[in-house]
Amino acid sequence: MADVRNTDLAEAPLAPAHLTIRREDYRPPDWLVPEIALDFDLGAERTRVRATLTVKKNGEHDRPLRLDGDEVKLVSVKVDGADAAYRIDGEQLVVEIAGDRATVETEVEIAPKANTKLMGLYASGGMLCTQCEAEGFRRITFFPDRPDVLSKYRVRMEGDARAFPILLSNGNRVAQGNGAEGRHWAEWEDPFPKPCYLFALVAGDLKANKDSFTTMSGRKVDLFIWVREADLPKTAHAMESLKLSMAWDEKVYGREYDLDLFNIVAVSDFNMGAMENKSLNIFNSAYVLADQETATDADFDNIARVVAHEYFHNWSGDRVTCRDWFQLSLKEGFTVFRDQSFGADIGSPAVKRIEDVRVLRAAQFPEDAGPLAHPVRPDSFIEISNFYTATVYNKGAELIRMMATVLGPEKFRAGTDIYFERHDGEAATCDDFVKALEDGSGGDLTPFKIWYSQAGTPRVKARLDHDAASRTATLHLEQSVPPTPGQPVKQPMPIPLKTALIGEQSGSEIAAERLLILDQPQQSFTFEGVDETPLLSINRNFSAPITVSADRGDDELERLAQADTDPFARYEAMQELMMLALVAGSRGEAMDPESVIRAIGATLKSNSLDPAFKGEAILMPSEAMIADRMDMVDPDAIHAAREGLRKSVGSALSDVLLFAHRSDSVSGADLSPQAKGIRRLRTVALGLLSAGDPQGAARLAKTQFDRADNMTDRQGALGVLVSLDAPERQEALDAFYQRSHDDALVLDKWFGLQAAAQRPDTVDQVIKLAAHRDFVITNPNRLRSLVGSFGANQWAFHSADGRGYTFLADMIIAADKLNPQIAARMVPPLGRWKRFEPKRAAMMREALEQIVAVPGLSKDVFEQVSKSLA
Ligand code: TRP
Ligand code: ZN
Repeated sequence: MADVRNTDLAEAPLAPAHLTIRREDYRPPDWLVPEIALDFDLGAERTRVRATLTVKKNGEHDRPLRLDGDEVKLVSVKVDGADAAYRIDGEQLVVEIAGDRATVETEVEIAPKANTKLMGLYASGGMLCTQCEAEGFRRITFFPDRPDVLSKYRVRMEGDARAFPILLSNGNRVAQGNGAEGRHWAEWEDPFPKPCYLFALVAGDLKANKDSFTTMSGRKVDLFIWVREADLPKTAHAMESLKLSMAWDEKVYGREYDLDLFNIVAVSDFNMGAMENKSLNIFNSAYVLADQETATDADFDNIARVVAHEYFHNWSGDRVTCRDWFQLSLKEGFTVFRDQSFGADIGSPAVKRIEDVRVLRAAQFPEDAGPLAHPVRPDSFIEISNFYTATVYNKGAELIRMMATVLGPEKFRAGTDIYFERHDGEAATCDDFVKALEDGSGGDLTPFKIWYSQAGTPRVKARLDHDAASRTATLHLEQSVPPTPGQPVKQPMPIPLKTALIGEQSGSEIAAERLLILDQPQQSFTFEGVDETPLLSINRNFSAPITVSADRGDDELERLAQADTDPFARYEAMQELMMLALVAGSRGEAMDPESVIRAIGATLKSNSLDPAFKGEAILMPSEAMIADRMDMVDPDAIHAAREGLRKSVGSALSDVLLFAHRSDSVSGADLSPQAKGIRRLRTVALGLLSAGDPQGAARLAKTQFDRADNMTDRQGALGVLVSLDAPERQEALDAFYQRSHDDALVLDKWFGLQAAAQRPDTVDQVIKLAAHRDFVITNPNRLRSLVGSFGANQWAFHSADGRGYTFLADMIIAADKLNPQIAARMVPPLGRWKRFEPKRAAMMREALEQIVAVPGLSKDVFEQVSKSLA
């Protein structure tokens, strides 16, 4: 049998030569489409789409009109009302047009129910909905599917009134009526020209939570959140978040909403978080639905974040859009920066910054250090869906944050005002954005542009020399940027470093915070009037998205963890202190836990720190983060070191941890930052306790689980229990399943927690769960909850026998046949094989080779796997 298989592989057709699209090849569109009218005859099995495009030649040329189409069945083409000469060229419909203007009508058929890619028009739980970004509109009708073609839309849709009582599209509803045989129709018009990726349509049996918001100029906006009737009680938080977002964008950016209507629709099958379609945002239901019993505090926060993000896109994305997909960070980096600032303003700025940096380090740093590394503004792609990445989103946000830091808030605001005014109604570039910031502020940001084009996380080495005689301290800095695919040699980058000195004895700020700009390979900065031994507090508030190695010993870090005047730097000192021990332990060196124990103890006992901060500060760096510090990754050694340190801390500090766990009782209905912090710390403490005394903690966790009046405590307890060997584990899992099996979002948690368990048999459990009757491979949330969580579980996924790799490869191959976008997102855990010890590296590589040998692989998966093998 093995031979047969090898022969198959050898004779498999060569991977198709998928086209690489390059940024430098950008050309303005040959034809513009100022207006489009769409007419939908809706049906789940078959939908007929008639499109009437008013096309206008752009510039002097004699090239034909080229319209993109993907899996659409062409019925007819007419130009100016007459049958037209056309040809099909690959995936394009090519129409010769005699003059400078014409009306082009096409009729096509599509099959929403058969659309498992969830791009274009598809069916989800009985409703029909669309997802067009980035290139889904071409799966609905033939069109120049590129973001720099902006059109005014008029949309008519007709369908069965019982199956689809609610008919929505962008803009305003201008007409509606009843048709024959129980059908009805509606007509919508969007006054704002938009690229086709912002088109949306929804038809289904939905009910709305209705509210309103009055804008700063007095316009009353009707707000609707559309869900299945049973979910209505879970929409209150999303609605509150929406109103807060609308007010915030007025106050902070001067941006007002521009229509009388704003709709949000929740959908259970959705490839990403949510989508900013003009006035008709479509959301993954995970980012809409929440109540105390089904959603954790983190879920509530994510809902506020995503609702704000999509709402903010109305200006940073819709009113000003992207010229081409290489400029994606123009809207995404900026909008993430905006939603992060919003989150800081409505909660605790310090804790929010810590959380955002944790996400950056967990998702973006590994990407930047691996085979899929790319700049914030990429130079090429095969499939654009693969570039909705942590680099474009989160590093893009950091880049804007750096420019905002350098300019200061007033000048930054002057710059964004110019940006929105100058480019309103246009498709802009990242260069346009920087230019507007410069023009508004009078500053020169040219040096910062390299952050758009150069990939890789810069490393800064810092050394502080104190000269008591001259009362000075000199900071010696050195930067380097590691090579990344296609960029072997790097230029120095401008790195804004907020820096202060803390007195070792006094514990106070002996040199006030300065913003240093490191823009040379090596540079020194001097601090005057330094009268006591200084401790270095650098990259305060994480002013630059870099790694710093500052050569500070345990004593210094322990002191900074208590004394630093910047909360982020305090957190950082605590994390670095743990990291030093963990890296030593992972290398097989002796690990002295005493300073970590003292620092965690002092943090827990502090009266001045709030519980949310404590929870973050004492949370041990993940195994993946430790791996990022190793030259060669041995997952078993890392796991052993981390468990060892957790055990030492858990045993030595059981009293304080028990106290933190019991702490003030708060009602599950209380969603104040204080209450959330208490719950957060409670579960972090329980986790450490479980390392010191597994049996005792199992009882404690089970009690927390049973008594919980909210999902945060319940999921927190179960998250600890799943990694333990105790009878309470299965009892709690079964109870959780019983109360949740008819709620998809809660069931996702049940799958996810088991896949994240720190146990030697997690691979077996995950393989079993993939055969569970509730595992639905066509639902992205379910797939992510099982396979995504497993891929992120370093120790379990890298099980020495390689079964984790085989499992993931099988899942990628199976998912690719249904939903290539989602399949491609599961590739990265296999991609970093070069950094693992040789046995695992070989097995990971083999898994990638098995995937790439599959005939008919999508370009999504092909791009990620072939780049990972290179
Ligand atoms: N623009 C969306 C956002 O970040 C992203 C998005 C939603 C998306 N659905 C998608 C991107 C499908 C690609 C494919 O707000
Ligand atoms: Zn976005």
